[in-house]
Amino acid sequence: MAYGFLSITLASLRILPLLAERVRLVFDGASISPGLRLAPHCSKEADAAAYAAYKRQSIDKASGELPHGAQVIELPHRACLSGSIRAGMAGVSTPFVAVLQNDMPVKRKFDLFALLALMETEPRVEKVHFSVGINRCHVRNSKVVCKAHRRMGRASNVSYAQEKGGGVLTRLTPVQQWFDGNHVARLTHYQRVLSIVPDGVFMEDRMFCKPWANHSLWGTFLLGAPDDGHYSGHLNGGGHRAQGCMQPPFGEGSGLVGGGGGGATVALHSLQPVYAMPVT
Ligand SMILES: *[C@@H]1O[C@H](CO)[C@@H](O)[C@H](O)[C@H]1NC(C)=O
Ligand SMILES: *[C@@H]1O[C@H](CO)[C@@H](O)[C@H](O)[C@H]1NC(C)=O
Repeated sequence: MAYGFLSITLASLRILPLLAERVRLVFDGASISPGLRLAPHCSKEADAAAYAAYKRQSIDKASGELPHGAQVIELPHRACLSGSIRAGMAGVSTPFVAVLQNDMPVKRKFDLFALLALMETEPRVEKVHFSVGINRCHVRNSKVVCKAHRRMGRASNVSYAQEKGGGVLTRLTPVQQWFDGNHVARLTHYQRVLSIVPDGVFMEDRMFCKPWANHSLWGTFLLGAPDDGHYSGHLNGGGHRAQGCMQPPFGEGSGLVGGGGGGATVALHSLQPVYAMPVT
């Protein structure tokens, strides 16, 4: 397992220092609890000793990058992404949270203060992605999955806004799908999502087309204009996750091999809103 990913991802937060405040690292559990039904992709029995070594090596290697006061949460049993996020959100009270994946370093600096200020003044903006690939790909993908594959008919509220922006600093593209990857969201958004997705369930099975059915109810956006993107990298670029819109720019991640057993590692950050930057 590629224990160096965490260190690379944490080091990347230097370009967005606000993300390095109040970090919680959540390691999913290796052992499978008999009482919990798990999504197939997350139900593989892991080698507990190898996973324990992976966690230790990840933290050792990342120790120089671990933000001050970072909390490390190790789940006793497998809970998959939904359960890992639930554990990371427990007791969080800041209005905004950032969810990052351990294999997705931030690649491009952007004005996070302006983004939070925009979210503060625009309650309809609930979740904003820093995409790996190109935004337009996710917009198109929603249609493929929700209309063509899941036969959900026409999107509701596609016309809400082609772009919603707070001036030149922050431009957002609405996207009618819910997916993982690096993003900032309202805490209340996650409280709603977690009330729908139990631990162990693949989040996108329950959530993917919710914004297709009603975008204004979920407020899912992508940072930047439709032809923007590449805000995050994807170190685990050889895995199945690298398909489609998660594809990083050509060549990235080569030489780094990830995957293997063990649970997901998720880095969570709880953010305070910042009012200092006016958005006009
Ligand atoms: C479309 O979005 C607006 C603004 O958020 C909302 O008031 C309206 O109810 C939505 N309409 C549908 C059909 O979802
Ligand atoms: C979509 O959600 C909004 C609330 O944000 C609600 O006003 C509207 O009625 C919903 N539309 C549909 C078609 O359910």
